[in-house]
Amino acid sequence: MSSSSRPLTLPKSELDACQLEQEHVHKVYNEIAHNFSNTRYKPWPRVVDFLCSFSNGSLILDVGCGNGKYMNIRNDIMMIGCDRSEGLLKICRDRYFEVFLSDCMNIPVPTNMFDGVICIAVLHHISTEARRLLALKEIVRILKPGGQALVTVWAKEQEIDNKKSTYITKNAKTCPIHTKNETTNELIIHTPRTEFQQPDCLVPWAKPTEKVLRYYHVFIKNELEHILNHISQVKIINSYNDDGNWCIIFMKIA
Ligand SMILES: C[S@@+](CC[C@H](N)C(=O)[O-])C[C@H]1O[C@@H](n2cnc3c(N)ncnc32)[C@H](O)[C@@H]1O
Repeated sequence: MSSSSRPLTLPKSELDACQLEQEHVHKVYNEIAHNFSNTRYKPWPRVVDFLCSFSNGSLILDVGCGNGKYMNIRNDIMMIGCDRSEGLLKICRDRYFEVFLSDCMNIPVPTNMFDGVICIAVLHHISTEARRLLALKEIVRILKPGGQALVTVWAKEQEIDNKKSTYITKNAKTCPIHTKNETTNELIIHTPRTEFQQPDCLVPWAKPTEKVLRYYHVFIKNELEHILNHISQVKIINSYNDDGNWCIIFMKIA
């Protein structure tokens, strides 16, 4: 629930979107930074493969780098990270990673700067399509022509070709499914480890003593492609589903 304990609804304005993300993304990641970081140590193999595709000396930005779990995959490329959470950035700095505070919709770096960008599990925290487009435009802007980005987001579809994702199969619970009140556009609270009922929802993070809710927009198949189609200078190289996540690799063309 919001601090005023009114039910949360989908944003109807830019201000609503900023407030929802501030309360249910940025504030939450700061509160859970250490707890979250302790659960995030295993790099995803296909992200590692992508990072390994760059030549020695490449300059790569990890947008929404979290605790920096991809920052030291290679010691022959230059990785820089940025994130909105001061709590997670502190963890990165304690590990001697090069990071800076930034929103992914407005990254304070020059145009055409990076050989590569990764943005892993970040865009699903942005609450309107216009803002998700802004974030992708920003990634394209900062890439060099010929540079490539890998963007991954949580998928609404957690079962592909009759194979359920690890998220659904691991520790499956039989909790009640929350349904949306169509008349009020209220955001539902997602029951963890179950199929998503709606693309926009609040996902509980169980801390030892209390529950906090993170806002998610889970993406449907081809939704990332649909948004990228609005941006010139983009050539899609590959798109795939990786265990409950939609992933896309694209190149900035001159
Ligand atoms: C699920 S975590 C993923 C962290 C990391 N990329 C990983 O793969 O472990 C989402 C991250 O996105 C960051 N984030 C959310 N909204 C953001 C925004 N608007 N700008 C920058 N970072 C953001 C959060 O602070 C958090 O670190």
